[in-house]
Amino acid sequence: MRVVILENADQVAGRAASLVLQQVQRKPDSVLGLATGGTPLATYRRLVDAARSGQVAFHQVTTFNLDEYVGLTADHPQSYRTYMRKELFEPAGFDLSRCHLPDGTRVAWEELQRECQSYERQIRESGGIDLQILGIGTDGHIAFNEPGSSLASRTRVKALTEQTRQDNARFFASPDDVPKLAITMGIGTILEARQIVLLATGGQKAKAVHALVEGPLTAQVPASALQMHPQVTVLLDVEAASWLARKDYYQHVEAIQSALESGGQIP
Ligand code: GLP
Repeated sequence: MRVVILENADQVAGRAASLVLQQVQRKPDSVLGLATGGTPLATYRRLVDAARSGQVAFHQVTTFNLDEYVGLTADHPQSYRTYMRKELFEPAGFDLSRCHLPDGTRVAWEELQRECQSYERQIRESGGIDLQILGIGTDGHIAFNEPGSSLASRTRVKALTEQTRQDNARFFASPDDVPKLAITMGIGTILEARQIVLLATGGQKAKAVHALVEGPLTAQVPASALQMHPQVTVLLDVEAASWLARKDYYQHVEAIQSALESGGQIP
């Protein structure tokens, strides 16, 4: 796990955007795994700017979002589908026919089950995710894999915890409007991505980040499953890194790694 501690949220967005750009410039038909929430917004703005200035073209890229609420219409202002179209897909010139989110408009249980299986199949048929962007919930969830999720789980319907519903209530008119269920990629699904970049900013994420990086591997902290993945970069601002016990070591490793990557000597 590469832990990168940056000065502020703006630098986190800059680093995340440049990892995505490198991926798409290297492979224009990349498959990206995308996240929603407040954290990746600044990264998406940078990707939009890069597309508008001609640095990159996204029209051959295929995307799979991590999750979607169950029970909102597709054009509901708080659906993740609406968020992605508005914040990234339309302004950055993605081909909408290549952009996938689970369909949470279905309500019958059997239909939801079929949708989860079909989402897994579509990811597989695309050749798998090259680069997955992740955020982290204050309770240590990734996507909507709440504490207690199987570390081998696949795309399925999950009930949201009260903590998550409260955290996400800021996007809705009233806390009661936050859906109780979501379709989410499983932890096993996420771990199959070839490369993972997790972003966390702000002091409210510090405890979860500590558990992700330094805690034991446990289903009680779904993000800790990333310890099992060989290509994870964790991009943090100073506040999100504030609970880390081995901060000095991560900074030391990062100094060596960036010197080597830019063709320099071992410092
Ligand atoms: C939601 C999403 C997650 C996201 C998390 C954190 O629950 N399903 O994918 O990582 O919120 O969101 P934020 O970035 O707004 O803190």
